[in-house]
Amino acid sequence: MSVASSAEAAFQEKYGSEPAGLWAAPGRVNLIGEHTDYNDGYVLPFALPQHTVAAVAPAGQPGWTVCSDLAEEPVSFGTTSPGDVEGWAAYVAGVVWALQEAGFDVPPAHIALSSDVPLGSGLSSSAALESSVLTALVDLGGFDLPVDQRPGLAQRAENVYVGAPTGILDQSASIRCQQGKALFLDCRSLEVEQIPFDLAAEGLAILIINSNAPHQHVDGEYGARRKSCEEAARILGVPALRDITVNGLEAALAKLDDDVIRRRARHIITENQRVLDTVELLRSGRTREIGPLLTASHTSMRDDFEITVDQVDVAVETALAAGAYGAWMTGGGFGGCVLALIDADQAEETTAAVLRAYQEKNYTAPTIWTATAAAGARKL
Ligand code: GLA
Repeated sequence: MSVASSAEAAFQEKYGSEPAGLWAAPGRVNLIGEHTDYNDGYVLPFALPQHTVAAVAPAGQPGWTVCSDLAEEPVSFGTTSPGDVEGWAAYVAGVVWALQEAGFDVPPAHIALSSDVPLGSGLSSSAALESSVLTALVDLGGFDLPVDQRPGLAQRAENVYVGAPTGILDQSASIRCQQGKALFLDCRSLEVEQIPFDLAAEGLAILIINSNAPHQHVDGEYGARRKSCEEAARILGVPALRDITVNGLEAALAKLDDDVIRRRARHIITENQRVLDTVELLRSGRTREIGPLLTASHTSMRDDFEITVDQVDVAVETALAAGAYGAWMTGGGFGGCVLALIDADQAEETTAAVLRAYQEKNYTAPTIWTATAAAGARKL
């Protein structure tokens, strides 16, 4: 059964009526630009075909009820404040709260959720959840909320209500990506450019290698990276690390005494340039040539930002040894997924090589499939 059909069936079963509509929002991968978002920098994600679908209808009585195919019990809540609703339903309550905070009169609603975005794999299942519910409530409420302002609201739900100090990458990708395009986003101005990204037409493919190593920010590593970057910007006297370009790199690094802070800053400053260089190559149709930039991003995440784990590094090294143009980790880090840019006819061989490498290391087997650039949040 498709995700949409199962959301619809769950709605009928739980509420005994038909939903007013189905709203889908995808997970994402990022081509390049990791941890640059909260430094006001650049990112380049594309949306995945895997998505969360929210079947929603206005409710006759006040409050919101939400059920999910991943949870045994539905959750009901009225108007809440951060901290009142916990667990998976906090992402939904957070979206209602963020809309209310922004002055919208959110209609009471019944919601049923279904998803095929793998959880805890760095593919933004939480942004898919927030974005599907946000898009549904905006439509049902008839709100005048331009699409470029929606990711910020979903991000507020995650930052303030759920309490995860993430940037705006995931929600922007889930809401603003378009099919067959990569989304070049300036996280300061929120301006976007939709970059044509048709790998199949060039005989290329991107493999997604889910390391199946546990992926989580809860240990505070993500927040620690963010703090280091903010500290670097403070010492350098700029609003954000985005304001230092590679031309000013050496001078900036010379002002940072602390080795850890210096390496964190170097990752962000060089990563922003790598995003710009990647975009330039894609604009001129030189897709194969982005490979080395993507691999350089990985090296920088491994050595300077220190957010990779061995399962991820092994997947990158193996894919490269098997002939990939580039291989890199995507997402926040500490597990999650690796991407490999390959000739489409090399998919089987690369997959087999990675599976073998994991077996030799006695790692849990990775899950591997081919990515395509799908559509962002929408009513089905
Ligand atoms: C997570 C966060 C994003 C971003 C990435 C790293 O996915 O949610 O905001 O910082 O990590 O690029």
